[in-house]
Order: sequence, then structure tokens, then C-alpha cells
Amino acid sequence: MIIWLNNNFVSLEEAKVSPFDRGFLFADGVYEAMRTYNRKLFRVEDHLQRLNRSLNLIEINFTGTDGLEKIIYELIEKNNVKGEAFVYLQITRGVSIPRTHHFSQSQNPTVFITVNELEDEPEKRANGVKVITDEDLRWLRCNIKSLALLPAVLSKQKAVNAGVEEAILVRNGFITEGTHTNFFAVKNNIVYTVPESNYILSGITRKVVLQLCNELDIKVKEEFIKAEEITSFDECFITSTIEEVTPVIEIDEQIIGNGKPGEITKRLQAAFDKLKTIL
Ligand code: PDD
Repeated sequence: MIIWLNNNFVSLEEAKVSPFDRGFLFADGVYEAMRTYNRKLFRVEDHLQRLNRSLNLIEINFTGTDGLEKIIYELIEKNNVKGEAFVYLQITRGVSIPRTHHFSQSQNPTVFITVNELEDEPEKRANGVKVITDEDLRWLRCNIKSLALLPAVLSKQKAVNAGVEEAILVRNGFITEGTHTNFFAVKNNIVYTVPESNYILSGITRKVVLQLCNELDIKVKEEFIKAEEITSFDECFITSTIEEVTPVIEIDEQIIGNGKPGEITKRLQAAFDKLKTIL
């Protein structure tokens, strides 16, 4: 496997990161996850814009965002990725020796990119998935795609242990999002999703779905949903770069709608599929 690390393509065996890297010591960094369709990066401008936003919000000075797209395509070539690629990109603030909480403005960020063949699971999109709810114990700046994911990691593990796909997080009685997905619900043909705020990551797939709703004349309300009301909704679905639009058919063992992917969800999936093919 070839990765991009600190301005070089290197083999995994050669790759070296200092134990004093602030990513390792403090989870002091941000990341992006993207994918290709027909071997072209999907919404790459949006991902790189979000990366810049995350970097700015945590005050990492990195000026190389414009060069990343070319590096990613080269990495896909070098790794001989067949089919579609998944791309993981992380930037940490760099090394602090000795370890200090504060940082210097002249830190040299550590850039790491890896690609692998994407494993698509279309049956989940076709049949829908089950989820649980869990308390949202994350910090209050969830709009930053921070490397510090421990609360999300623990909630997702709870979901795995419960034999379901995702944990939907609840803060003060209101749904925020999934551990690695945005959440949508449908009632009386209106699509509801949480407004952009510090309580959620502004998902690129979320943005695409809102554009599709607009094109399909589906009414949208960006508002918070009470967790206790969720089973009264006709349909639910989650979105992410990997999951695309995935129907949710059961929450905490309670069936949503008729226990099958809903009509609006299916219309959005079809529109999303069309978008993929015209790339
Ligand atoms: N997760 N919300 C959270 C908390 C996320 O981590 C993600 C993405 C999303 C969906 O965003 P997008 O549509 O841009 O993929 C929402 C990535 C895939 C991850 O952590 O691997």
C-alpha cells in the first residue's frame, strides 16, 4: 500500500510519524472522507471547502488544499484501485516536543492520505437498516470534522453490539445526527432534518439530498426533531458519503412506517442514483 505522508508518496512499511505528533497526543487535527463514482471524486470541491473550514476553525495553517485533488488521483493510480475508491485524508497540527497543550502558529501540519477500494453494500440501501438511539456525548462543535471521535466510536460500538447499523444521537431530547451519518425523517410528505449548526456535521450528502428535494419539489423543513416523536414519522433515512441515502426501518426495535423503505426515500435514492451515472 502506498500512502501520502508529509509531502511524499511512501509505502506503508516506510511511513513514519513522530509519537509527538499532536494528532497522536491530542487528536489535534481534522479529516475528510470522500469517494469516487466512475473513478471521479464526488463533490470534491465541497469536501475541500469543508476541510478548509475545519482547519480554519481549529486554527491550523495549511495552504496546500488546492494541490490535494491531484495527489488523491495519483494515489488511486499508484495503489491500482479497481472499481471505486474511498479516500481518507487527515491533517494534524504537527509535532510538539515537549508535549504542550498550546501550539505555535508556525507548526508544520502532518498530512496523511490513504485510498482503498470501496466496499459497496447496496442491499442496505435496498432493504433499509435498523438503528438504536444513544445519548449525544460529543462536544459542542460538531460542525468541525475533528479527529476526536471517541464518543462517536463508543456509540457506534453500542450499535454494533446491538446488531444494528447505526446509533442516532440524542441531545437534550432532540435528535442531532448519526455517529457518522446525517439523519432525515419524513411526515406527510415533508422531509425534516436538523438545521446546520454546531450540533451536526454539515454533510455533503445532506446538501445533495436537500438539492434533490428542491428539484423534485419535495417540501423540506430544517428543524430539530424530538426523539420521543420519531416513531410517529412515516419514513426515516440516514445519509453519508458511503451510505448515500439509506432507509431506516427500525429505531430502538420500533418499526418506522410499514417497516419497509418509504416512498419519498426511494424517490430520493433514484434521483441520487441518476446523479451518480451522469458524473
Ligand atoms: N462521516 N455526520 C457525521 C458525524 C459524520 O462523521 C459524517 C461523515 C456525516 C456525513 O457526511 P458526508 O455526507 O459528507 O459523508 C455526518 C464520514 C464518512 C466518516 O467519518 O467516515
